[in-house]
Amino acid sequence: MDQDLERILIDRTAIAGRIAEIGRDIVSDLGEDCESDGIVLVPIMTGSITFIADLMRQLPLRVRIGLITASSYRGTAVESSGEVLLEGEHLPESLEGRHVLIVDDILDSGGTIRRVREEIESRKPKSVRTCVLLRKKIESAMETPCDYVGFDIENEFVVGYGLDFDDYYRNLPDIGVLKPEIIEMHQSNAE
Ligand code: IMP
Ligand code: MG
Repeated sequence: MDQDLERILIDRTAIAGRIAEIGRDIVSDLGEDCESDGIVLVPIMTGSITFIADLMRQLPLRVRIGLITASSYRGTAVESSGEVLLEGEHLPESLEGRHVLIVDDILDSGGTIRRVREEIESRKPKSVRTCVLLRKKIESAMETPCDYVGFDIENEFVVGYGLDFDDYYRNLPDIGVLKPEIIEMHQSNAE
């Protein structure tokens, strides 16, 4: 697994340190409001599983979790297909009057966050905020409004800490870049 990485981009210690900071920011923005209304975290599956597990433990608030599954990358692609599919949800019955924080692993074209935000807003919550661990330094990502961003990274395909390639590598504890020959091998096997 680790031997498939060309290099580590952000290691587990840096990730943990940054998540503690984001947690503090969220608590200072939302802490008071949450005392009465609580907050519903909505991680976008599947890439956010690791991030949400760590982030929620930095939030000493009245927190509930709702899940939504979206996909824009298909199989062995390393670029967004541009079309976002909402494939399922497990949300509280009503979000009306609730504070919602949408959480995703990475902001790329921005399509996923926009589509999920639309869906959540249609349920009339009291507020909607967004949080991503990574944001690519490309126009589409930088122009997508996002309240909390962990790290801005170069425009390259990354895996680990929940992020996958062809559904693998989510379990790597650090975030890294795959060796090009590994990507080629998966792509030629898929043909
Ligand atoms: P967007 O809709 O183009 O912003 O893409 C966001 C989704 O694509 C994320 O939720 C990720 O699941 C996936 N994604 C985007 N970039 C990467 C990457 O570099 N590695 C793995 N998955 C990615
Ligand atoms: Mg995703």
